[in-house]
Amino acid sequence: MKKIALLGSTGSIGTQTLDVVRSHNEQFELVAMSVGRNVALAAEQINEFQPALVSVAEEEDIPFIKERISASIEVMYGQKGMEAVSTHPEATFVMNAVLGSIGLQPTLRAIEKGRTIGIANKETLVTAGHLVMEAADKYGATLLPVDSEHSAIFQCLQGCSTDDIKRLILTASGGTFRDKAREQLRGVTVDEALKHPNWSMGAKITIDSATMMNKGLEVIEAHWLFNTPYQDIDVVLHRESIVHSFVEFKDGNTMAELGHPDMRAPIQFALSWPNRLEFEGKKQLNLWEVGALHFEEMKLERFRCLSFAYEAGQLGGTYPTVLNAANETAVAAFLKKQIEFLEIEDYIEDMLNRHVNIQSPTLEQIIEVDQTTREHVASQIK
Ligand SMILES: NC(=O)c1ccc[n+]([C@@H]2O[C@H](COP(=O)([O-])OP(=O)(O)OC[C@H]3O[C@@H](n4cnc5c(N)ncnc54)[C@H](OP(=O)(O)O)[C@@H]3O)[C@@H](O)[C@H]2O)c1
Repeated sequence: MKKIALLGSTGSIGTQTLDVVRSHNEQFELVAMSVGRNVALAAEQINEFQPALVSVAEEEDIPFIKERISASIEVMYGQKGMEAVSTHPEATFVMNAVLGSIGLQPTLRAIEKGRTIGIANKETLVTAGHLVMEAADKYGATLLPVDSEHSAIFQCLQGCSTDDIKRLILTASGGTFRDKAREQLRGVTVDEALKHPNWSMGAKITIDSATMMNKGLEVIEAHWLFNTPYQDIDVVLHRESIVHSFVEFKDGNTMAELGHPDMRAPIQFALSWPNRLEFEGKKQLNLWEVGALHFEEMKLERFRCLSFAYEAGQLGGTYPTVLNAANETAVAAFLKKQIEFLEIEDYIEDMLNRHVNIQSPTLEQIIEVDQTTREHVASQIK
């Protein structure tokens, strides 16, 4: 039995992780989980999976949960609660499916315990990749990618060394507005932006896909996970989302991982690694039905957020922290209809231009830069 602690059980990745746990309940057991504010769904999940520990975002939500679950289940809240979940003594595998850089400290605590961690929460690696990777090395923790692109690369690298990588090629569906010119993006609505052509995901990542920031965050994530310099990471537009990414090796061979877009596949791979389990729900990939696969060059001038991410990643230090915090704040404001879609990139660019970099920042410095960036963007939006 693999005992699992799940951060963000009520989200898109969280609920799909529970689908995998449910379908292989002879292999996986949920021992701890954290949620944000969706306590109604949390209560259902607790009653089904009976974890020993639950954490909610706000203390005021505890009575709602307690009234609906067995008295033997411990309920905590806030950052302390998330850290208790990620370091639960029974858990050997931590799935980090929470949204945003709030996932950083629970991840570091789990690393200090030497746990195996499934990383869906890319903002953690973007905001403090050097700290996370150093800590994983120091404490012997294993980080397993969950993002489909990084899972694809990880699968291509089974039996190979990252030293053999010549180039990583991340595929991008192009997001909701891939066929619109920049001028056509003025005035697009939240509802329009949330209609992703291929993937069904949480709201923030769907907007990140439409701005192409998601791919930018993934470039930084790939840099850290696979120890690959930015100049050796490319992005290609691939509308079908069938090839999830490529690895070009130094001997000229290129490998790819293919499948229909279904996040339960990379989630299950992370949970079952190094083994593979049956996945009956997954639609079989028949390439004759797909017919043709298309690849196009990615235009950085069309997708400015992607070029911001490359620049921030290459500059390093606290630039990626600013990129991420400005993006999280601006996307949240767009989702609340406080700013226009194209203003998301304006706020990010403005914060990157103002920033005075700190090379090799400490955790405290990262937390401070993250906080001040959020406050600055929020005050400008007001
Ligand atoms: N969705 C995908 O297909 C996909 C694919 C690849 C990677 N990812 C990455 O996976 C991560 C999660 O994405 P998602 O789409 O699953 O997001 P989501 O649907 O918005 O779910 C986010 C989860 O985090 C919880 N949460 C949010 N704010 C919190 C807070 N302040 N304190 C505690 N918990 C909080 C939410 O709780 P409540 O809902 O209860 O408030 C929810 O459980 C992101 O980093 C994303 O980039 C997602």
